[in-house]
Amino acid sequence: MPDARGSTPSPWIVQWAGLIPPGATVLDVAAGSGRHALFLAERGHKVTAVDRDIDRLPRHPAIEAIKADLEEGHPWPLPGRFFGAVVVTNYLHRPLMPTLLAALPPGGVLLYETFMVGNERFGKPSRPDFLLKDGELLELVRGTFSVVAYEARLISEPRMAMVQHIAARRL
Ligand SMILES: C[S@@+](CC[C@H](N)C(=O)[O-])C[C@H]1O[C@@H](n2cnc3c(N)ncnc32)[C@H](O)[C@@H]1O
Repeated sequence: MPDARGSTPSPWIVQWAGLIPPGATVLDVAAGSGRHALFLAERGHKVTAVDRDIDRLPRHPAIEAIKADLEEGHPWPLPGRFFGAVVVTNYLHRPLMPTLLAALPPGGVLLYETFMVGNERFGKPSRPDFLLKDGELLELVRGTFSVVAYEARLISEPRMAMVQHIAARRL
């Protein structure tokens, strides 16, 4: 999937980062260039950033870089680890979802934002595998999380795209 937002943190993550308890650990999944890992490290969190390509991650004392393929049947690289928050942006691999939610104990915060159905009108990603279905993030957390904020909307910056995003806390 192309990185739609460059190196600026997503406004959604910036807006809801305050939900993460001060000093809580954060897991940044498919962290890419580490824009959120760095943003959250600078807010005082210890961040574990996982990606198959960790060369673009910033070197920072509060960022632990884990190189791992999260797909194709590879084992989850962080078994038994729990985090105060899980952050996922512009990445979707549905078989991983239960593992990501299981890494959050009660009170743990999920911040998730990625492309949704309708995005194919504007470009990539356009494959259904990479696009959330209508209401999919709400369905994902129903009954096990308290939803603080959710939106499905068209964004125009940095380019036109259909996205869904959620901020939720584990019950
Ligand atoms: C569009 S980028 C998003 C990066 C970051 N979350 C952001 O929003 O800036 C998608 C990321 O997923 C990572 N990725 C894709 N497939 C992966 C896989 N099978 N295992 C681990 N990381 C993967 C890519 O390396 C890339 O960094």
